[in-house]
Amino acid sequence: MDQLRFGIVGIGNMGSGHLNDLYHKKVPNAVLTAVCDLKDDRLAWAKSVCGDEVAYYKDYKEMLASGKIDAVIIATPHYLHPVIGIDAFRAGLNVLSEKPVGVYTKKIEELMQVARESGKTFGLMFNQRTNPAYQKMREIVQSGQLGALKRCVWIITSWYRTQAYYNSGGWRATWAGEGGGVLINQCPHQLDLWQWIFGMPNKIQAFCSFGKYHDIEVEDEVTAYAEYPNGATGVFITTTGECPGTNRLEISGSKGKLVFENGKLKYTALSMDDREYCYASQNAFKQIECKTEETVFENDGEQHLGILKNFTNHILNGEPLLAPGYDGIKELSISNAMLLSTWKNAPVSLPNDGSEFWDYLQEKIKTSRAKENIAEKVFDTAGSYMTK
Ligand SMILES: NC(=O)c1ccc[n+]([C@@H]2O[C@H](COP(=O)([O-])OP(=O)(O)OC[C@H]3O[C@@H](n4cnc5c(N)ncnc54)[C@H](O)[C@@H]3O)[C@@H](O)[C@H]2O)c1
Repeated sequence: MDQLRFGIVGIGNMGSGHLNDLYHKKVPNAVLTAVCDLKDDRLAWAKSVCGDEVAYYKDYKEMLASGKIDAVIIATPHYLHPVIGIDAFRAGLNVLSEKPVGVYTKKIEELMQVARESGKTFGLMFNQRTNPAYQKMREIVQSGQLGALKRCVWIITSWYRTQAYYNSGGWRATWAGEGGGVLINQCPHQLDLWQWIFGMPNKIQAFCSFGKYHDIEVEDEVTAYAEYPNGATGVFITTTGECPGTNRLEISGSKGKLVFENGKLKYTALSMDDREYCYASQNAFKQIECKTEETVFENDGEQHLGILKNFTNHILNGEPLLAPGYDGIKELSISNAMLLSTWKNAPVSLPNDGSEFWDYLQEKIKTSRAKENIAEKVFDTAGSYMTK
């Protein structure tokens, strides 16, 4: 195969961006051959861009069975990601799912099983993994240069959203339609990077506030505490209700520290491991000598386009996959644990089988209210899915 034929399910905010990238040939060796949406107006918009060069479907199963595509991009509301993913793998297709991989981990176990059996490629749109700053932080942490990890603190409050955003779709910010708020919609990126760089926690206690800054039933503010198998701790703070917001990631280890904020990465390397120094030094207050380097990152990497290119190159040329779909369950486990911990007002251990979260979620879905004041809208998304 020297060209990968893509179909997209869901031509809303995000699917429209993928359509533009593919149709305008920004991804070498990839071609858009089919699109699918339930809504006539979205199909009409797609047709106004792509004309007769692609096939149009209302029923995604027809598109999967059409023989016109080798890979499908799933850009529908989250609950459908694993449902369509399972059907696509069963149809023998490669799958690139939007984040999050789904809403609850139990369903993802099933998806991963079907994906493995299919032997096809499973990718996830964790576009922030293309950011060179996060890649550098991961390299420093994973190479052991920071020593034994102590703490990882992420304040990510720059996901500001207005009520118009929440009113732009009936599914948004409801338990039945979306299955959560800032954790399931905006933060999959940071929860993924948190674990990609620092590893998986084994305990979470979180405090979520529901509809604190918006007329919504799901969480729009979260403060979470995490513990790791080596004794390290973490704090994760997020909201869609604070302006201006902060995006600051700070990682401390026994040999140094990383701080990333406003595009600048500060790396402080200690001249010796503090665990040694702490007991060897006879001086009560003297700090360890250190050297600090600052790197300014001029850009955030290729983001969505970078993942599209990597997914295509992986299938056509065997390039290592930057964001495997199988990684999606990690951030989702953390996200589910944060909500569960709030509902139970107790810490939650990881890994767990997801049953308890599923039970609580079913109760929330039963009481989920249909939204009023919906003004359906597809936004011009250029640049708006990035946090600074
Ligand atoms: N990676 C990112 O940076 C990023 C940014 C925005 C959104 N997303 C993700 O993309 C997904 C979609 O978000 P959005 O903002 O584009 O939503 P949206 O509501 O704007 O678009 C969803 C589209 O899916 C269509 N759809 C729903 N059910 C369908 C079905 N059964 N068959 C065919 N089409 C169907 C809807 O008609 C709609 O046009 C979400 O999961 C979201 O998390 C990712």
